[in-house]
Amino acid sequence: MAQVLLENLSKVYPEKSGPGVTAVKCISLEIEDREFMVLVGPSGCGKSTTLRMIAGLEEISGGSVKIGGQTVNEVLPKDRDIAMVFQNYALYPHMTVYENMAFGLKLRKFSKADIDSRVREAAAMLGLETLLERKPKALSGGQRQRVALGRAIVRKPKVFLFDEPLSNLDAKMRVSTRTEISKLHARLGATMIYVTHDQVEAMTMGDRICVMKDGDIMQVAPPLELYNRPQNMFVAGFIGSPPMNFFKGTLRRAGGRLAFVEDNAKGSPLSIGLDEKLAAKSADYLDKSVVFGIRPEAIHDLLTVASPDPALTAEVKVEVSEPMGSETLLYLDTGATSFVARVNPTDRFEAGQKVQVTFDLTHAHLFDPVTEHVLA
Ligand SMILES: Nc1ncnc2c1ncn2[C@@H]1O[C@H](COP(=O)(O)OP(=O)(O)OP(=O)(O)O)[C@@H](O)[C@H]1O
Ligand SMILES: [Mg+2]
Repeated sequence: MAQVLLENLSKVYPEKSGPGVTAVKCISLEIEDREFMVLVGPSGCGKSTTLRMIAGLEEISGGSVKIGGQTVNEVLPKDRDIAMVFQNYALYPHMTVYENMAFGLKLRKFSKADIDSRVREAAAMLGLETLLERKPKALSGGQRQRVALGRAIVRKPKVFLFDEPLSNLDAKMRVSTRTEISKLHARLGATMIYVTHDQVEAMTMGDRICVMKDGDIMQVAPPLELYNRPQNMFVAGFIGSPPMNFFKGTLRRAGGRLAFVEDNAKGSPLSIGLDEKLAAKSADYLDKSVVFGIRPEAIHDLLTVASPDPALTAEVKVEVSEPMGSETLLYLDTGATSFVARVNPTDRFEAGQKVQVTFDLTHAHLFDPVTEHVLA
């Protein structure tokens, strides 16, 4: 069993003068045996620091790391039964692919026969069989990254740690290597913890995703739950591309129905009649400020909607229309808020034109503007 348990884990980097830099703030997280957990968040949010504390490469300031039920705070990295793959894979330039993969096992005094079978097995998994006698400088970036993966696989560790392993690869190579790592996870049945700042990588690879911000955990959930039920505005805005649109406004009662009314002193404010589900969640917020959030794909232009509900329809101005081929991103403006809709690629719009749009509330959320938590 290789469950990884972080309990109240924190890290303060000492400074010459001052209280130090708090990189990780007392986080608790359970990564199940054989799970693929992704840590995602913007630059500087503490992802690498967390991973390095699990690996034993960084001293722990508070709390504990348990691997397979054992507290490893004081256990040396080499004795933790983990393997780490970094962004810059740092292969030994003077060694062949075979020797690079064999090196760690040699140090650990594995027999020649054992080393050979492990290296060949890993090479076969990664499609490196024909490259075993090459030196790293004669490999492409993607091939080098696969050797770095192979070096981790031959160790047969209980836990794999990845720190942005794909960020040096070009876009196409990233996608194919991403798929390879997912396949490896299924095949090896090992626990994997994967750090990235790329939300697409997080969504496509993770069994669960842990979203971090400023050294703290914002939400831990499977990808689609994170997408469909974000707990706060940070997660709602971080996951999804283009991100969720937010409108600031007030909850009003209009004609027996609760409505979100945009703060908009300049133009005619957006008014959106709430459905029963949203109304039930926001009953305490009548006449108070709220933030209305809705994903770009839940905003439709009236060319594609047969009989729109007038309480969910508004006239807005087109700022920019970006045809992407499979869809068109329509950048719109209410006078107070800019937002984006993902519309049918055959619907044509000109900048400056007025357009009627309708909001599909099944993908809408209301947030408290102060705490930024979703209303529940
Ligand atoms: N050795 C160090 N000394 C002082 N502060 C550090 C040190 N290493 C990291 N930090 C700080 O700790 C915070 C978290 O850094 P960390 O490297 O964990 O972020 P990250 O989420 O991995 O970011 P990135 O996506 O840029 O790699 C940052 O504010 C960083 O400046
Ligand atoms: Mg990092």
